[in-house]
Amino acid sequence: MDRKLLEAAKHARARAYAPYSKFKVGAAIRADDGAIYGGGNVENAAYPNGVCAETSAISAMVLGGGKKIREIAVIAGGPKLVSPCGGCRQRIAEFAEPDTPVHICGPKGVKQTFTIAELLPASFDKRNLKGK
Ligand code: THU
Repeated sequence: MDRKLLEAAKHARARAYAPYSKFKVGAAIRADDGAIYGGGNVENAAYPNGVCAETSAISAMVLGGGKKIREIAVIAGGPKLVSPCGGCRQRIAEFAEPDTPVHICGPKGVKQTFTIAELLPASFDKRNLKGK
């Protein structure tokens, strides 16, 4: 994973809006168009309406014209691995291939990389809809 993706994820984390959990998360996607799209978590006083960093980054990619996720980096605070929640795994998979890398990062770089298929095995996707 290159430095630019890490820096974009850190930048997105700095802009995250997490006054309730105080747990800021940043994500950055390198898309098929070569651009990098960032997103931070955006919480809400009505708690369930908050959105995760990964989901924000996917929205930015779609708006910007990116069609596929080539790789995605996620960064949060603290020593523990923070990998995407179940809902975000499903949203990432929508725009990824099974072997698309998901980099879980700390301030200095990648802590661990998974493929999206490792994070979301036996997933439901658009192919299932064709088998109705
Ligand atoms: N969160 C993310 O943005 N991404 C993750 O991968 C895990 C959790 C956010 C949601 C909420 O705003 C805060 O972290 C605490 O759960």
